[in-house]
Amino acid sequence: MSARSASPLYPAAMLMLLAMLLPPPGAAADVERGQLLYENHCVECHDGRAHYRENRRASSLAEVRQWVVKWSATLQLQWSADERGDVAAYLYQRYYQSAQ
Ligand code: HEC
Repeated sequence: MSARSASPLYPAAMLMLLAMLLPPPGAAADVERGQLLYENHCVECHDGRAHYRENRRASSLAEVRQWVVKWSATLQLQWSADERGDVAAYLYQRYYQSAQ
């Protein structure tokens, strides 16, 4: 395709971007940034109560992450995958991990 040959750096740039957006499993999440994002955008409805109630819906990090994806989309926050991962890591460490 001519569009591709016109910009040979494009695939490489996309790969680098993807690598930045999708940290490998186990990569250190920035929990502090996750906390800040959460406190700035999410506490207006639930200040943690939704996360330690008995019948809470999430239990694994993956499930917490799905909720973060859902709510950040609902609030139209335009968070990057990285930022969503940080918030999920923060919530998981703070409210979910210790309960297991
Ligand atoms: C408009 C109010 C509101 C806002 C704002 C909100 N939430 Fe929630 N959240 C809820 C309610 C209500 C629930 C309970 C589940 C449901 O009914 O959807 C919930 C559930 C959750 C859960 C699952 C808790 C569990 O284990 O049962 C997570 C995780 C979560 N929210 C994260 C977030 C994050 C992250 C944000 C900010 C991006 C956010 N929420 C913003 C109302 C809100």
